[in-house]
Amino acid sequence: MISATRIWMICWIDNMGMIQMTDNERSENEKSDGMDRIAKTLFAPIYPVLAGYFLDRFGRRDGVCIDLGSGPGSLAIAVAQSSSMMVWALDKSEDAVRKMQENIAGAGLTDRITPLHGDVVQIPLPDTSVDLVVSRGSIFFWEDVHAAFCETARILRPGGMAFIGGGFGSAELRDQIVVKMMERRSDWEPFYRKNMSPETVALLNEELARTNGVHGEVIRDDSGIWVVMRK
Ligand SMILES: C[S@@+](CC[C@H](N)C(=O)[O-])C[C@H]1O[C@@H](n2cnc3c(N)ncnc32)[C@H](O)[C@@H]1O
Repeated sequence: MISATRIWMICWIDNMGMIQMTDNERSENEKSDGMDRIAKTLFAPIYPVLAGYFLDRFGRRDGVCIDLGSGPGSLAIAVAQSSSMMVWALDKSEDAVRKMQENIAGAGLTDRITPLHGDVVQIPLPDTSVDLVVSRGSIFFWEDVHAAFCETARILRPGGMAFIGGGFGSAELRDQIVVKMMERRSDWEPFYRKNMSPETVALLNEELARTNGVHGEVIRDDSGIWVVMRK
């Protein structure tokens, strides 16, 4: 148990500015904590379903995979657990990378999944070094989708595939989660509806069409909305 003296000392150190975080750092930290919590509770069932969906469509369960905007690493972990792939997990938030490191260690997968700190517009991997790119729930926050798609095309090997988008894996999971998210956050429904709208499908199709070196389609089904690229 933490003693009153220790609590006082922590407050004192904090007040002295020695362990103070800026508002930005605190809010980044809170976002990563929140994502980690929800990924381990309400969203927990979606990751194995999505990993299975991507791997089945890819048609292979070996090679190299990367999860873009991996947050706490739940999808990367599910891909590693459902395959023999070596997995990179990239996120631009240092807090997310720290969380993901803990979660990967907790899953006993440090030899199969490597966390990467970086931005999707500058993926720190060589050309044609990845077989499968997956990404869930991150694209809606990307400032430069075109640059991210060009990077995806660059790192994919010939014969490789990418699934980039968002969703909850199945109609049943989606319906349960949407109801619960709307109860929790009043601003969530418009964000979700916009992400899943025909306008988003059209925009993503446009971005895909101007990405050199890959072809594909935008799928919108019960599992979610996915830009599917093939190289
Ligand atoms: C809503 S979370 C989704 C996390 C995870 N994919 C999941 O489904 O559990 C979005 C994540 O994308 C990351 N992200 C947003 N923009 C990014 C970018 N430009 N490059 C890398 N990561 C990014 C955020 O830091 C955050 O961890």
